[in-house]
Amino acid sequence: MASGKVLRKLIRAGVEGDISAFKAASQSVIEEERQKQHHLLASDLERLLYGAQMGISAGARRLQKVSELPTSKDNGLTLLEERSVVREEKDIVLSDDTQTLLSEIVHEHNRADVLRSYGMQPAQKLLFCGPSGCGKTLAAEIIAHSLSLPLVIVRLDSVISSFLGETASNLRKVFDYVSQHAVVALFDEFDALAKDRGDAADHGELKRSVNAVLQMLDSYRGESLLIATTNYESLLDQAVWRRFDETLRFELPNLEQIKRLLALKLSGIRREVETDDHELANLFKGMSHADIERVLRRAVKEMILSGREFLQRSHIDEALKREYRHK
Ligand SMILES: Nc1ncnc2c1ncn2[C@@H]1O[C@H](COP(=O)(O)OP(=O)(O)O)[C@@H](O)[C@H]1O
Ligand SMILES: [Mg+2]
Repeated sequence: MASGKVLRKLIRAGVEGDISAFKAASQSVIEEERQKQHHLLASDLERLLYGAQMGISAGARRLQKVSELPTSKDNGLTLLEERSVVREEKDIVLSDDTQTLLSEIVHEHNRADVLRSYGMQPAQKLLFCGPSGCGKTLAAEIIAHSLSLPLVIVRLDSVISSFLGETASNLRKVFDYVSQHAVVALFDEFDALAKDRGDAADHGELKRSVNAVLQMLDSYRGESLLIATTNYESLLDQAVWRRFDETLRFELPNLEQIKRLLALKLSGIRREVETDDHELANLFKGMSHADIERVLRRAVKEMILSGREFLQRSHIDEALKREYRHK
């Protein structure tokens, strides 16, 4: 429950019909609930507050939120970008280990109150490793969705500034933001920042900024989830690894996972192919989830354009041929 002080303000504003005081007090209630990890309640209250009754459309609210995102002083670019979250756990195909870890992390956060009452914290700093197109960004979206938190992507290209000292100040703004708002923050391709750390070449500014980000990770005590992704885990040194609570691996799909992916991506498509066909799955071996998805999308297009009602093996073969022509 919100504190007495805030509740008094809320009721007084209501009785006096002071809309702006009412909004401010309601916002404080929401923030208090978020801080207590009551994200579902907070999101519900937010919907009530900003919903149709207040005459503020969802679109307007989004704009309000985005305008609060920090920007870089040197070029005015936003340092964080909000992404919409729609997909759920059923929309991802992973190895059993990674799937289990993902579910456990969500579970820990849903039960954060209980953990905290024992003096423990849910896993908050996560490292996602693996080749591109295997679901690192998607998994971040799913975590955000499961916890009803916004997903913000840290724009490392805007964070890293050519101006001396500006990178550290940008990072400070990013960490201030994620400390003040409960979000899932994705530091995508984090190694772009971290890989040159041990480099003998004079990357003074880069080194300083990597040290700054490591220190900020260490001292971070907010409630946001911080997720860093990398395609090249070998490039990260020990100092970086140690700072994460959990590491999740995203690999290319094996045959069984390819079959599950085919079933997932072709659900709702009328077809003459079986998604658990061993030979069919074999055609996709060595491809990432994103590659497979692209081929299937192309195959469905072929089907539509050729005026067929059912997806046939020939549509998939044709789409695969085109995929290899592009390579
Ligand atoms: N493991 C997966 N299960 C289901 N779909 C996936 C998976 N990995 C990737 N995809 C599809 O490919 C798209 C791009 O993948 P993404 O999550 O951006 O990969 P990464 O961040 O690892 O490069 C996703 O939005 C999703 O549609
Ligand atoms: Mg990604």
